[in-house]
Amino acid sequence: MRNLYEEDKKYVLNTYNRLDLMIERGEGSYLYDVDGNKYLDMYSGISVNNLGHDKGIAEAIAKQAMKYMHLSNYFVSEPVVNLAKLFVENTFASKVFFTNSGTESNEAAIKLCRKYGKRFGENKHEILSAYNSFHGRTNGGMALTGQEKYQKAFMPILPGIGYFEYNNVKSLRDKVSENTCAVFLEMIQGEGGVVEASCEFVSELVNLSKEYNFLIVVDEIQTGMGRTGDLLAYEKYDFTPDIVTVSKSVGGGIPLGAMLVCERLEDVLHPGDHGSTFGGNPVSCAGGEYVMDKLVNTNLCQEVKEKGVYLVSKLKELKEKYPNVIKDIRGRGLMIGMDVGEHVNAIKQISQGKNLLLNSTSNTIIRLLPSLCISKDEIDEFLEIYEEVLKQVFKK
Ligand SMILES: Cc1ncc(COP(=O)(O)O)c(C=O)c1O
Repeated sequence: MRNLYEEDKKYVLNTYNRLDLMIERGEGSYLYDVDGNKYLDMYSGISVNNLGHDKGIAEAIAKQAMKYMHLSNYFVSEPVVNLAKLFVENTFASKVFFTNSGTESNEAAIKLCRKYGKRFGENKHEILSAYNSFHGRTNGGMALTGQEKYQKAFMPILPGIGYFEYNNVKSLRDKVSENTCAVFLEMIQGEGGVVEASCEFVSELVNLSKEYNFLIVVDEIQTGMGRTGDLLAYEKYDFTPDIVTVSKSVGGGIPLGAMLVCERLEDVLHPGDHGSTFGGNPVSCAGGEYVMDKLVNTNLCQEVKEKGVYLVSKLKELKEKYPNVIKDIRGRGLMIGMDVGEHVNAIKQISQGKNLLLNSTSNTIIRLLPSLCISKDEIDEFLEIYEEVLKQVFKK
C-alpha cells in the first residue's frame, strides 16, 4: 500500500507538521482512515467543516460544477448573488466582496481601510491590531498578526501597523491617534489560545473609534459562521462593526472568504481598486449558499449554544477531577480551549491512539472545534475517551 505520509514528505514543501494518518473519507463528525478505522474529528479542518463532513455540501457544489465552474468576474453568477444576498439579509452588511481565503479577506480590508483613511488626510493610514492575534500569512495578514514568531524571518513587513495588548484598555488608548484608520480585532483569539474579548474592552474600542474616526474590522475567520452559537461572534456585544472578514467554513470546505462591509463604506472601493480571479468562484459560493441556509434557516446556532454549555459544564467536572492536568477552560459555543500546560502533546498523542483527533494551539491549549452538528451522544463519546486520556496522563 502507498505510504502517503512518506510521499508527502518527499514531494510537498515542508511547511506543515502532518499527522501520520491516511484519511480516506469523512462522514458527519467522523473521519475514516484507509484501514477503516473511525476517528472522532475535533478539528473540523480548524473550523472549516462547521457542518461536519456533509454530503449535502458535496451535492450542492457538484450541481453547480455541472453547470459551469468558472466564468470570471466580468460575469454575474447566480450562486454568488444568492450568497451575497444571504449575508446582506442576515448580518449588518450592506455589500460583500468575495475572496478565496481568510488572509485575502483581511488584505481586502486593509486596502479598503487605507483608502477610507485617505479621505481624511494623507497620514491617516495606520492600522492597529492586538498582540497575540492571528490574521493570516500573506504580507498584510502577517503584518496584522501581532506575534513576532510569524514575522521575524520575513522583515521588513508592511509599514504602518501597530499593536496593543488584547483586552487592555490603557494599551489601546495609548496607541490610537488621529492617524489611525482602522483597528482589527478577533472577538475570540483563536490561534492566540482561545481568549475572548471583554465587554469593557470592546466598549472602549467603540468609544475611541468615534473619537478618532477609525474603522473597526472584526476578523471572524475562525469565530464566524455559527462557531460560537451566533452567526458572527460580535453579535454578543453591544456594537456593530464597520467591516467583518470571514472565511474557513464559508464555502463548506471549498476555498472561499468574504469581506462584509457596512453601508457607509459601500462606495470606498471602485472598479479596478481590488479584485481576484477566483474570489467568489461560483462553485465555492454554491457551497456557501448551502452552509448559510443551514445557519440562518434552522435551529443550528441555538443548538450550538446549548451543546457548548453542556460540553463546558462536563469539562469543568473533569477539571475538578484532574486539576493538575486541566488548568483552565474557556471559549464560547463550540470553540473551546483547555489549558493543559506541558501535557498538550501527550494528550494529543494518546487521544489519537484512542481514535480521537485533537488539535492544539499556543503550546499549551487543547482547542476543541467539533462539527456544529455534533450530537449529544458524540459529545458524550468524546468526554468518555477524553477522561480515559486524562487518567493516563495523570498517572504518568
Ligand atoms: C482569525 C484568523 N484570521 C485569519 C486567518 C487566516 O486564514 P487563511 O488561512 O484562510 O488565510 C486565520 C486562520 O487560521 C484565522 O484563524
